[in-house]
Amino acid sequence: MSPAFRRIMRTLSLSQAEIRIFADPTHLSRGVADEVHQQATAALSARGRFTLALSGGSTPKAVYSLLAQDEKAGGGRLDWTKIHVFFGDERCVPADHSDSNYRMASEALLSHVPIPEENVHRVRTELEPGAAAAAYEREIVATFGTGEPRFDLILLGLGTDGHTASLFPQSSALEERKALVCATRVEKLNAHRITFTFPLINAAHSVMFITAGADKAPMLRNILRGDPSGTRYPAQDVRPASGQLRWFTDEAAARDL
Ligand code: 6PG
Repeated sequence: MSPAFRRIMRTLSLSQAEIRIFADPTHLSRGVADEVHQQATAALSARGRFTLALSGGSTPKAVYSLLAQDEKAGGGRLDWTKIHVFFGDERCVPADHSDSNYRMASEALLSHVPIPEENVHRVRTELEPGAAAAAYEREIVATFGTGEPRFDLILLGLGTDGHTASLFPQSSALEERKALVCATRVEKLNAHRITFTFPLINAAHSVMFITAGADKAPMLRNILRGDPSGTRYPAQDVRPASGQLRWFTDEAAARDL
């Protein structure tokens, strides 16, 4: 690791997770993109396929853009015909809606790389939420074939309320232990969401949180060091059974650790 990179990245280990802390959002996005590329290369080499679930929200958009730029630049091209992209959660809006995670990822990454259309697994939000969740679960199961669906990599974000994917505090989805995907009503957003459940997330080979900004600092401390009040938050239940858990943050989000 070059001295320059070491200056912009330090590592902590807390609550069985590896935490990589970068100087700023730009270096964070670069660090995440490099790690995704590395894990894709390893999975393609080991299993001939890379199954990836993208996170929604705003933080990962710069990462997706970097992955598209890297592909265009030609450095270490990936075999996108062997990569399957899913979404860890989706807003129940049309695919072309400004709130759609599918639209965000398509504009930043998927429309810029040679991934076959059938390898991009969009949540069919044109269906009513329960049917969309059931259809998505069937598509995940069909993609993985026999055995438990184990994603090579799941990217996740963190909300200031401790939610991740669309697993929000006080949601019944937090208790789901059989379904891999479920529909959930987020009262405070007055919105329906489709989300991976903890059984699917915690089966993954690798889970990476991407968190940036000072507004996330108090919750990141609660998640990684525990809330002194004893309150628990959804993101704390992301504990891969046998996979790796890593947090990629910037100094602003890590300032309270
Ligand atoms: C979504 C997400 C959600 C997101 C967090 C953080 O669909 O909104 O998947 O879990 O990752 O809310 O969002 P930001 O990156 O925008 O802070």
